[in-house]
Amino acid sequence: MPVNYDSEKKIFKLDTAGSSYVFQVFDENYLVHLYYGAPIPDNNLSSMYYHGGFASFSPSNAKVKTDSFSPDMCPMEYSTQGAGDFRISALSVLNCDGNNVTDIRYTGHKIYMGKPEIVGLPSLYLNDINEAQTLEVYTEDIVTGVKVTLVYTVFEKYSAITRNVIIENTSKNAVDIERVYSCCVEFPQMNFNMMHLYGKWNKERSLQVRHLAHGIQSIVSKRGSSSHYHNPFVALADDKATEDYGEVYGFNLVYSSNFSAEIEVDSSDSTRLIMGINPESFGWHLEEGERFFSPEVVMVYSNEGVGGMSRTFHDLYRNNLIRGYWKNRKRPVLINSWEACFFDFDDDKIVSFAESAKEMGIEMLVMDDGWFGKRNDDTTSLGDWFVNENKIKGGLGNLIDRVRALGLKFGIWYEPEMISPESRLYKSHPDWCVHVPRRDKSIARHQYVLDMTRQDVRDNIFDQIYGLLSKYPVDYLKWDFNRNITEAGSALLPPEKQKEFFHRYILGTYELMGRITKAFPKMLLENCSGGGGRFDPGMLSFSPQIWCSDNTDPIERLTIQFGTSLCYPDLCMGAHVSACNRTNIETRANVALWGTFGYELDPNKMCEEDKAAVKLQIKKYHKYYDVIHSGNLYRIISPFENHYRAVWQFLSKDKTKALLTSVVMRRPETQAFFVRLKGLNPEKFYTDEETGEVYSGALLMNAGLNLTSTDCSDGSSFVKYFTANE
Ligand code: GLA
Repeated sequence: MPVNYDSEKKIFKLDTAGSSYVFQVFDENYLVHLYYGAPIPDNNLSSMYYHGGFASFSPSNAKVKTDSFSPDMCPMEYSTQGAGDFRISALSVLNCDGNNVTDIRYTGHKIYMGKPEIVGLPSLYLNDINEAQTLEVYTEDIVTGVKVTLVYTVFEKYSAITRNVIIENTSKNAVDIERVYSCCVEFPQMNFNMMHLYGKWNKERSLQVRHLAHGIQSIVSKRGSSSHYHNPFVALADDKATEDYGEVYGFNLVYSSNFSAEIEVDSSDSTRLIMGINPESFGWHLEEGERFFSPEVVMVYSNEGVGGMSRTFHDLYRNNLIRGYWKNRKRPVLINSWEACFFDFDDDKIVSFAESAKEMGIEMLVMDDGWFGKRNDDTTSLGDWFVNENKIKGGLGNLIDRVRALGLKFGIWYEPEMISPESRLYKSHPDWCVHVPRRDKSIARHQYVLDMTRQDVRDNIFDQIYGLLSKYPVDYLKWDFNRNITEAGSALLPPEKQKEFFHRYILGTYELMGRITKAFPKMLLENCSGGGGRFDPGMLSFSPQIWCSDNTDPIERLTIQFGTSLCYPDLCMGAHVSACNRTNIETRANVALWGTFGYELDPNKMCEEDKAAVKLQIKKYHKYYDVIHSGNLYRIISPFENHYRAVWQFLSKDKTKALLTSVVMRRPETQAFFVRLKGLNPEKFYTDEETGEVYSGALLMNAGLNLTSTDCSDGSSFVKYFTANE
């Protein structure tokens, strides 16, 4: 069984196929962390038992029997504020006495097959109750009556554990949660590199690697979304670990709002990581009997380097996060109107796109921003979700009929959480946008944010969307979110609850998204936030795909897609071929094939040669779909490390099919170029489909494929497909 409890030694051991996680109930019921890493088969873990550790100036608890104990020197399973541990704390609760001393101790636990849902929040799910086992550890602060449940679900097959916490106020007095992180993880060493994904609009998820140093290092968002700037992902990699070897611990928060990941290296060279809601913009008032659920953090351990960690996240997210009708269905190749014409279209133009697209084998037409209210640019109409019949003459039904008559599916764009000051909705409900008293509202892209904490606001938007989509067969919806939240407050919350705004906002968004996906279960939802500003597992649990970036330049996309692949699977990465002419259309397609694949250009402006190329690309998409989207990803040459080329490979799970893609970013000075493939069966022979050449897996992996004579001009690329011989 994945979860074991030694009742004599009071040690918990959480085992997966590739990891063990161990902690104990120590004297005075402190929960002490003992180990996280490669699997340990032992049943007898007495050697791991904690024996204390004392330092001057680190106060101790006089009741503890073990000599030399101080919470400050102890690897705490879930650190708290003000009771002897001076390092970063996962939990701080302000009590009725007006202080925030928080001290939780073990009171009991429960182990069961399955995984509980987290009230109001997205989380990983099980396909079968036996897929994972859950441990709930009960703790209590006996002075304040605050009970804290630490929840661990162990995915045995995946070297993954999910964690969250539940806070319950069992006292008669109200308390205020000041900070509640979803996990705390301790390591007795500091020789780690911290890996994380930073960025900005149009350049999301670049990889940053830095060696840990004494003190606190962190990444956060306080923008009201997970954000373009930092992704809620962080990894700790042994400083000798590489893409293919060594120990790496990955952490990803299933949350789409303000997050924080803090890592502290203390003076004993130990490392503590906490991850959860960003406390800076958070507070939660708990009356007697009320509970608070933290979002879930996904922890993955790999001893096959960064690549191994990524592949575990990919498998886990494909199987246990992405859900619904489209989970295992091939996504239609779409053409999106945005870069083709921005706001300048009418029904005839959309239909003409569909006609040309159909000829090339494209399967779905998506009408982007500009179809509603009076929207001819970005200054108006968000919130007025009725069709602009000056543009879409004859109405939406008529347009959809025309597109469907060509044999294409139809998709549409919405930005449900936004409101333009120039809109009917704003005129009738000026208080429905996010704002605080006595301050001007900052404006971004001429828009304000609707107050998603309010049921009446959500109902209005739901009714508008439902009213339209229930009338017509819409196959796809792109859900956009094009600004960050400022002057954060709600007209309906009392002053003492205003700090709850951001969390309530995202709970409201999740609720609305959940209602829409439930009402239209077969409609494909694609998330977007000015590109990839909300590319996180919270959103992935509603939408099986997310638009990676507004940047569709294939060379710039390389870092964006490499970075995204650190923890998100190929099948969710929205990637399109655009009119960007920095490279030829073949390279644009070879890069977009990594993701959901589609087009974002005016098909009527394409030359015949490019149209013929598109037909072939769509054939490739269908042919390679399985190896890309159900296989394993191997990053071979990273654009973060090499300025000339990026190379990556997909391998089917049975190792019989491999697809290798290489893109030249800048012509290398030397042309000698061997690529060593990864993960193949060394004993099998593989045929290069294009040339008919046969190579052993051993040769391809050790000597490498000799590509010295391939085109290496700027922006050139190729895809090579290998199949194993019988
Ligand atoms: C955002 C999206 C784009 C497009 C525009 C429309 O920027 O990322 O793809 O939908 O909004 O306004």
